[in-house]
Amino acid sequence: MNTWTLLLAAGRGTRLKELKEKKQFLVWQGMPLFWHSATVFARVPRIQGLVFVFPAESMDQNCRMVHELMRQRGPEFEWRAAPGGDQRQDSVSSGLKALPQSCDRVLVHDSARPFLTADLVQRVISGLDAGAAGVVPGIPLTDTIKHNGETGLTTLDRSRLIAAQTPQGFQRSILEQAHESGRSKGWTVTDDASMVERLGLEVVSVQGQEDNVKITTEQDLARLPGPDPSSCRPCTGWGYDVHRYGPGKPLKLGGIPITNGPGVLAHSDGDVVLHALIDALLGCLGKGDIGDLFPDQDPAYAGISSSILLAEVLDMAQKADLSIDHVDITVICQIPKLTPWKAQIKKNLATLMGLGPQQISIKATTEEGLGFTGEKKGIKTVAVVTARSPLEPKGDA
Ligand code: CTP
Ligand code: MG
Repeated sequence: MNTWTLLLAAGRGTRLKELKEKKQFLVWQGMPLFWHSATVFARVPRIQGLVFVFPAESMDQNCRMVHELMRQRGPEFEWRAAPGGDQRQDSVSSGLKALPQSCDRVLVHDSARPFLTADLVQRVISGLDAGAAGVVPGIPLTDTIKHNGETGLTTLDRSRLIAAQTPQGFQRSILEQAHESGRSKGWTVTDDASMVERLGLEVVSVQGQEDNVKITTEQDLARLPGPDPSSCRPCTGWGYDVHRYGPGKPLKLGGIPITNGPGVLAHSDGDVVLHALIDALLGCLGKGDIGDLFPDQDPAYAGISSSILLAEVLDMAQKADLSIDHVDITVICQIPKLTPWKAQIKKNLATLMGLGPQQISIKATTEEGLGFTGEKKGIKTVAVVTARSPLEPKGDA
């Protein structure tokens, strides 16, 4: 028997809109969520390979991600990729087309269920071994379930109800036939087994896994705990930068060009926000300051975009396993007025840093006409980064 897994990772995550990326790509314990399931299937000897179903618009990027993950952290296994569709069932249909000819059984799994165990996968395969057309892991219900009908409530027999999970297993030809019927008859379903049931074929259940939950809503995110607090220490980095106004570079703050703002005199692009932020990050890393890393005198950095410098420092942070919790920035200037720009700056910083909007704060203030900012001679910024650093630094970190 030749068994493959379709790993569904093409959803839009509409119930988790606040996330900076789709939930299947959320990094947890150092790897994207979908990779957690992939590594479990890869551990099961009877699984020959995986078909990743990725969003059509990011297929190339996601395939590169798989190559990189395999290269950097493993495990290695046979895989293919297919573009997802509008509905979950469209994504499954697309994945089926990418299976190799030799495959005769298929498991379908939601990558949003990262906690599955190899044991569960094995139970589903055993169900197929016993001859079922389809196998569903199920959990007995503890609540009393009512049917809310037009004439009022009726109570269902709880002893006959289960909550269906994935991975669900099928004989390949039967699942293909079910999807074919689904397409031609316009069925809309939320799992694959319901299609096979509609064909009148036998679908059986095996014991599910209590904690094999699907990350669906905000509350579920709490199921993805951060690093063990006893293995890291909290740290704070503080950064400060000043630029003099004058006929030089057009003012940029947090990577956003401030139109009609005064010019700044600077060697690089003179972005005080990014410079203060870089120094705060270096403060967490204990790696000196921006001038040590990117010297003023070095022509390589003349006019360079500070977002490139920030990306370099963020790479250093990642290599050191620094986990950034929060960024708080205060810009101090008499001119220009920053209220209209704050939201844009915050959004851009979140993108540059790969953080959520709730992890970034941007404030602006004047110094009441006092000092060089009050005299409109320049602008300054202070930045504070809070993060967690491993107790035992990696490599040269
Ligand atoms: N999925 C998919 N293609 C779709 C829809 C869903 O591959 N068109 C995948 C999701 O990536 C997820 C699994 O199916 O791993 C279960 O779907 P769900 O939890 O509903 O995820 P999303 O559809 O992404 O979330 P939402 O319904 O909140 O938009
Ligand atoms: Mg969905």
